[in-house]
Amino acid sequence: MAQLWGGRFTKETDKLVYNFNASISFDQKFFLQDVRGSKAHVTMLAKVGILTDEERDKIIACLESIVKDVESGSLVITDEYEDIHSFVEATLIDRIGDTGKKLHTGRSRNDQVALDMRLYCRDELREIRDVLLHLIKTVHGLMKEHVETYMPGFTHLQKAQPVTLAHHLGAYMEMFKRDYDRVNDILKRMNICPLGSGALAGTTYPLDREYVAELLEFDAPSLNSMDGVSDRDYVIEMLSAFATIMMHLSRFSEEIIIWNSNEYQFIELDDAYSTGSSIMPQKKNPDIAELVRGKTGRVYGALTSILTTMKGIPLAYNKDMQEDKELTFDAIDTVKGCIALFDGMIATMSVNKDKMATSAKNGFTNATDAADYLVMHGVPFRDAHGIVGQMVLYCIDKGIALDDMELSEMQKLSPAFSEDIYEAISMKSCVEKRNTIGAPGHDAMMRVIEANDKWLEGK
Ligand code: ARG
Repeated sequence: MAQLWGGRFTKETDKLVYNFNASISFDQKFFLQDVRGSKAHVTMLAKVGILTDEERDKIIACLESIVKDVESGSLVITDEYEDIHSFVEATLIDRIGDTGKKLHTGRSRNDQVALDMRLYCRDELREIRDVLLHLIKTVHGLMKEHVETYMPGFTHLQKAQPVTLAHHLGAYMEMFKRDYDRVNDILKRMNICPLGSGALAGTTYPLDREYVAELLEFDAPSLNSMDGVSDRDYVIEMLSAFATIMMHLSRFSEEIIIWNSNEYQFIELDDAYSTGSSIMPQKKNPDIAELVRGKTGRVYGALTSILTTMKGIPLAYNKDMQEDKELTFDAIDTVKGCIALFDGMIATMSVNKDKMATSAKNGFTNATDAADYLVMHGVPFRDAHGIVGQMVLYCIDKGIALDDMELSEMQKLSPAFSEDIYEAISMKSCVEKRNTIGAPGHDAMMRVIEANDKWLEGK
């Protein structure tokens, strides 16, 4: 049991207490960030004259050797240490003796852990922003391909009006762009350096906090040392953004699962992204989409957990805050993995355009357009609605689509119908007439695709 704080104690910590208290099994995840913070700290200590340049160089060289040895496997991070901070400091002291003991001057583990967690989340958020951008580019590519792929649009999971696959995907495009912007907003707001807050009340040393902030590429030092050590708002914001990303991926997954079913066959997932059944030889299951949908719960759980942990903590640091890590790390890995897998899954799926178009045609998705046609020919809308309702009943009875109905039959219901009704309710014209921005018509869609091209420029 290697601890940094044995001095005022006369007894060994109980073994169970030690294990309960220790965090090394999970906080070793930010080993590199811990070292990075320590290097910046000693660089600043030398700048303000608390360490000599030789001491600084000796500590930095040793920290680098520790990283090298951990990476090569010759030095192992073990649970003999309470946390990653103790591991690094104890190893440093083992290797360079008294000089190593100066590392922690003007620093507390409270501001140290606040820094490490922030650095780790910043690094991971940047990676998540990148995988999200890749997914956005995939969706953008699919949209360009499917401007004329007609399909039913749904409300209540009932066929409603015809749209295109580009238009349907465009809805997710908007969600993912918002997700991307949200991640960026968080990155901006969280970019404040807590190091130098000390345990809670700053330090008596003349630390140059602006300089450390600059070394670690933060915009500024935190302005209140109590807040510096106990702020986890950025973790909450991050997990909230993750929960929203997962909610979007989960809705999309749900649609992929439906579209990939035998009943729909709108798409077929690639073999590389499907799994089989151990008993039913015919099965090809959309497990990836189901897992993404399922894992959404874990990420919501992480958000709920940290919100609950934080709500009763008085200022400043309390050990409860050690609980900010495990579920956050899990959520980060989950979100990053889900985005990348989802991206690969939709990039490789094949789209069955005929099935989509036939489904739109057979679902009376052009009924509103038939009513609009009558309105254009002088029939009041409420009457038109009733007439088309009767046409739908007739077609259901005959098992045909609206555009398969004889003109003479239509005219029995309203003399306003003439030959051009067929053109008016064809799938193509139903979609193409909808050309206000945001609608599925070709020209409107191309304007959106152009706007998305612009959005992507320089990213
Ligand atoms: N492992 C601790 C955490 O994650 C580090 C900070 C310990 N500080 C303390 N005062 N015990 O929060």
